[in-house]
Amino acid sequence: MAGRIPQEFIDDLLSRVDVVDIIDARVPLRKAGRDFQARCPFHEEKSPSFTVSQNKQFYHCFGCGAHGTAISFLMEYEHLDFIEALKELAKHAGIELPQQNQQSYTPNISPDLSEIMQQATHFYTQQLQQHPKKADAVSYLKRRGLSGEIASEFSIGFAPPGWDNLIQELGTTKTRLEQLVTTGMAVEKEEQNKCYDRFRNRIMFPIRNRRGKVIGFGGRVLDDEDKPKYLNSPESPLFHKGNELYGLYEVRQATRTIDKLLIVEGYMDVVALAQHDIRYAVAALGTAITPEHITLLFKTTSDLIFCLDGDRAGRAAAWKALDIALPAINDGRQARFMFLPDGEDPDTLIRKEGKELFEKRIQQADSLSNVLLDTLSKEVDLGSIDGKAQLAEIAKPKLAKISNPIYLNLIIEELALRTRIDSNALKQQLGLSGNTPKHNKQSFARNRNNKPSLVRKSITFLLNQPSLAQQADELSLLSQAQQPGINLLVQLLEFLQQHPNINCGTILQHWQDKPEGQHLVKLAKVQLETPDEGWEKEFIDAISQLKKQAKDQQLHNLLIKEKSTGLDADDKRLLMKLLKRN
Ligand code: CTP
Ligand code: MN
Repeated sequence: MAGRIPQEFIDDLLSRVDVVDIIDARVPLRKAGRDFQARCPFHEEKSPSFTVSQNKQFYHCFGCGAHGTAISFLMEYEHLDFIEALKELAKHAGIELPQQNQQSYTPNISPDLSEIMQQATHFYTQQLQQHPKKADAVSYLKRRGLSGEIASEFSIGFAPPGWDNLIQELGTTKTRLEQLVTTGMAVEKEEQNKCYDRFRNRIMFPIRNRRGKVIGFGGRVLDDEDKPKYLNSPESPLFHKGNELYGLYEVRQATRTIDKLLIVEGYMDVVALAQHDIRYAVAALGTAITPEHITLLFKTTSDLIFCLDGDRAGRAAAWKALDIALPAINDGRQARFMFLPDGEDPDTLIRKEGKELFEKRIQQADSLSNVLLDTLSKEVDLGSIDGKAQLAEIAKPKLAKISNPIYLNLIIEELALRTRIDSNALKQQLGLSGNTPKHNKQSFARNRNNKPSLVRKSITFLLNQPSLAQQADELSLLSQAQQPGINLLVQLLEFLQQHPNINCGTILQHWQDKPEGQHLVKLAKVQLETPDEGWEKEFIDAISQLKKQAKDQQLHNLLIKEKSTGLDADDKRLLMKLLKRN
């Protein structure tokens, strides 16, 4: 997988970048003891179990098991391939990636898929300017109040009527046609493997990922009589609806500091708001908000406003969004809800009211805690004692999702005010009397009876401080210790003696495709109980104990041999030496 980039380059690169910087720029980290922590960007969680070790140049999550180096972090987090991740790191380190041998480059399908989506975007925008029927589309967009600038900023296009415009243009080879099918731009007929364009006679909204690559489209009919009103790209290797937000890339392009994001329902809402200079709207793509969306949103800003219909459906949507947002709320992060008048959506409202009034509505958005408590209290009769008790009961599962103790406390105080129940009594009722909720930290402390083996211990020390390898000698003797993992330890020592300036992350990188790699990863995650100053001594002790075991083993073998076949001169010399030492 390392392509043809020389391993030496990768080692050098990993020694020049700091995994903490790389991750912190994307997922803000907090110092926690020796390491850094955050809530894991790879799974939804309440309390941080994502740990980054500067010393080991390695990250891992106790919750979901994600782990790796700066390279794998970029691959996972930014959906880059190996080479792209190296490029990004090289850029960060200010060095150049060595030229790859083109012929030996491992083919990767996604650059081609991305490329064909880019070409499709180009084709549709071109059609909006050139197609004989372009007037229909242009006048539609005008009617909806969009200027040419905004249309081009969002790369809005036109899929002309007809079954195979796109296929004719882009599906010129078998491979390219397959790519159109894979991305969902073309649909394969069940019989006679023939294909047709998915999007026909529609206004096209390209959906870009956070790096600006087009990964899918939404297509709207020109005539409201036609159905379905919106057609979206299907899930594809490029496009995962639940992870993407329409307009987010455009927000990032238009705004330097994003102090809030407005989450609306539709493509047209995003674009119409942009038309009125509200440059912070994004839309989930015809799906409910997912935890991945929330993670992505909070990664971008700390103030979210969900903009919803005022009707029942809107309230229900708010309740769902609230449920998903709750675990992500913490110091400084807030989610608010804005309900629109009946029959309006952001597009109609902004055109009626203009920016100023619309922004006033945003300012008046309801806090999450308000919506939470309002909705809860509507379900019970607060006038009665039973009702009050019930409120606490139904609030419980919601409050259990709040990971931030300060925020939880605030909500409980407010709930207490509303119910006129004493807040301490309420906490007790909620089972939260022990002031802050306990984080269910996974303990990696090992069972006393189940002490780590000498081999494990030695490897763990080496991963924490690779330079310790210089303290070990007589490796061929060492390798005779009859201990599980001894070969890996010896290999690691040899490797580190040859590569003296390497860090743990780089070691893992070297071993990642080998079966032993997973053992190293496991040990890299172990938190050492010994303070730094003690590492060297403990390491030297462990190695000498292992050597002693190896000698005992040799002695044992020689004594057996003496009894069976007898000893030759070398054996005898060794035996003498071993006996003397013992
Ligand atoms: N949607 C969809 N498929 C549909 C209808 C809607 O995916 N058949 C999604 C689209 O993302 C759309 C959003 O839901 O933008 C909101 O739909 P709706 O309220 O029906 O449309 P509007 O956004 O108001 O669209 P328009 O203003 O263009 O009529
Ligand atoms: Mn609308």
